[in-house]
Formats: sequence, C-alpha cells, structure tokens
Amino acid sequence: MRSALGSTAALAVIIAALLFAPPSARPDTPLDNGLALTPVLGWNDWNAFGCAVDDALIRETADAMVSSGMAAAGYEYVTIDDCWSLRTRDDDGDLVADPVRFPAGMKALADYVHGKGLKIGIYSSAGLTTCAGYPASLGHEVRDATLWASWGIDYLKYDNCGNTGGTPGEERFAAMRDALVATGRPIVFAVCNWGVDSVRVWGPSTGNSWRTTGDITDDWTTVMAILDAQPAWAARSRPGAWNDPDMLEVGNGLTDTEARAHFSLWALLNAPLLAGNDLRSMTEGTRTTLTNTEVVAVDQDWGGRQGTRIADHGDQEVWAKPMSDGSTAVVLLNRADTAATVSTTAGALGLPAAPAYSVRDLWAHTAEPSAGAVTAEVPAHGAAMVRVSTSTTRPGEL
Ligand code: GLA
Repeated sequence: MRSALGSTAALAVIIAALLFAPPSARPDTPLDNGLALTPVLGWNDWNAFGCAVDDALIRETADAMVSSGMAAAGYEYVTIDDCWSLRTRDDDGDLVADPVRFPAGMKALADYVHGKGLKIGIYSSAGLTTCAGYPASLGHEVRDATLWASWGIDYLKYDNCGNTGGTPGEERFAAMRDALVATGRPIVFAVCNWGVDSVRVWGPSTGNSWRTTGDITDDWTTVMAILDAQPAWAARSRPGAWNDPDMLEVGNGLTDTEARAHFSLWALLNAPLLAGNDLRSMTEGTRTTLTNTEVVAVDQDWGGRQGTRIADHGDQEVWAKPMSDGSTAVVLLNRADTAATVSTTAGALGLPAAPAYSVRDLWAHTAEPSAGAVTAEVPAHGAAMVRVSTSTTRPGEL
C-alpha cells in the first residue's frame, strides 16, 4: 500500500515536471525561439560548390539573390556550409575563419550580407570534427555560439559528424540549442543529423528544423528516395519546427521538368527551401522555378499539417496539403519514364461538397472550373501542381 502510494506520488512529480518544464525542454513542444515561424527560404553553397566556398562567392550570391528576384520572392538566408575555418582553433580556443578564403573576416562579410537586406548562416557539427574534417563544436558550444553572435550570424546548420558516440544526439544538439539561445541573438537552429538518434522525437523541441534523411544528390532517383521517406515524418512539423528533407538541387543536375517536380514537392512538405545552385549563372528556367511565388506560398502556408501522399498508383501519386484558406494544394506526380495522366477528385482531397471547384495551376498561373475532377497530363519524371478550392462558378460558365 505504502509503496503504491509512493509510486503514485513519483508519477505525479514526473507529470508535473513535464507539464511545467520550460517549453524548449519538453519533447513535444517546438523550440520557442520565435524564429522560422515559416520554413526558412535561402541558399547554401554545399550542393553546387562543396568545399569551394569563399568571401567572393557569398557576396556575389547575396548580390544575385537580390538581382535575380529571389529576395523579392522571399528568399533571405545566405548560408555557408562546411570548410570555412582553419584546421585548428586559435590560442584562446576560438574557431578562426580561413584568412585566405575570407580575407575581410566573417563580421565584414555578415555586414555586407545584412546591407543587402539579407541574413547570413554558418555551419558546424555536434562532434569533434565537421564532415570535411574541420574543427567542430562539441564541448565548445558556448564559445562558438558567442563568436558567431559577435559576427552577426543569423542561422546555424549543425551537423552530426565527428561524434565519437559518447554523448547521445539529443544532448549534443540541445547543448548548442541552449548556447545559441544564451547569446541573446536570434539564430535559427537547423539540426542536420540525417534522421538518426530519434530526432523524430526531440527535433521539434531542439531545432527550427531537422534533417529527416541522408544527403540529397542531383539525380531523380535520390530525390524520389528521399521523398518516399517523408510521409513517416509529416506529423512532426509545425510553425517554428520543420522537417527538412535536405537542400534543393534545382538548377544542378536535374532537368527543368524534374526540378519543378522536386520544388513543388518540397514546397508541399513545408521544407526549408534552400537553393543549392549557382545563383550567379542560373538559366532562366531555373530562375523561374525558384521564384514561382505561387509555389513558395504553399511552402509558407500552415493549414494544420504539412503535405503528404494521399494516393499511390505505382508510378503515379497524389500528394496533398490543406491550406489555411480552406483550399488544398496538390502535387500530381509522375515518376515514370513516360508521360501519364494523374487524377484525383475534390472529395478525395478532403474538400467539402460544392456546386463547383476552381483548379488553379500553380505553374501555368491559370484557373479552370471543375465539377470535382482534378486531372493533368504529366510528363515523365514530372509533376503538376494545383490549388483546388470550392467555387460558385460551374464548369462552362467562364
Ligand atoms: C553532411 C551534411 C551535408 C553537408 C556536408 C558537409 O554530409 O549532411 O548537407 O553539410 O556534411 O561536409
């Protein structure tokens, strides 16, 4: 009897501790830093440049982000990936920006990017070394976060390399979360641990985003493999805390048709949209894809959950996401090597019964009335993206 009462009391203490813990420490509550309330829009050097990152690339990319119309479409964060530092810390223990790659220093570079009305991001890892073997931040969280804040850094991508296995992932990433918050500077925290170590559980209380999967490459097979892993994560995302299926390969090795499908799907998933191509020399096709504000608007909208797959007919699939205005965003995907018709209905999309519907094509920027059918001829390795809403205009009345 006595021991039953004791365990009841212990349970009450545990429940109270969970209920009254600060939001960031509770497993199912988003990191409460007020940032990334919509998925981050920006650019990162890794996919196109690997370790070939320097001051000129970042400045020219910031310039191009503005001159290309990307900034006007909402892109804001210019982020530096691996390989920016020297191979050793200085005598004080601080990371040092490579003076050959970054001769003006990171503070001057951040000032330049800020002067363009943009924000700047940097990279480290929750281990002893980064994935490319540079010094990383495990055990140096407060020192490194303080340094980045002094430079004016606005975003940290925090990787999982160089981790010797001694400390659980949740603790390693929470240490940096807390160090960033303690700087007092608003710094978006992008967790990059490839979906391992139960990040599905602690990601939302730790980062503004967390990678769900391994590294993307610029081929259709990999993009589709990453896509297939996403429905299992869908319930985890919410404003301020997003699933990250990895950065974009638009403008790299994909065809324009494949790139549009990739971009449409990542927007439907509320993914952080970080362009990964050379913005200084992109084709008009790539620029038009990245600056499609109707598609970006789907990414930035929160109607209660991220999009997910609602029908799978082999190579033809229907992906849908509820929008905050009551419409449904839809990607009709054709994974096959030949063109195909892909169809769904307003009912299957969860829309209420109505006399008619409006089907807006987010790539053609035109709307068609429909009695309820939603259908498109979709090229090989391609997708149509539409937004379906109830309407009073019956087919034939336009
Ligand atoms: C890991 C990450 C990539 C990139 C590289 C850099 O592989 O997942 O996105 O940051 O490290 O070395």
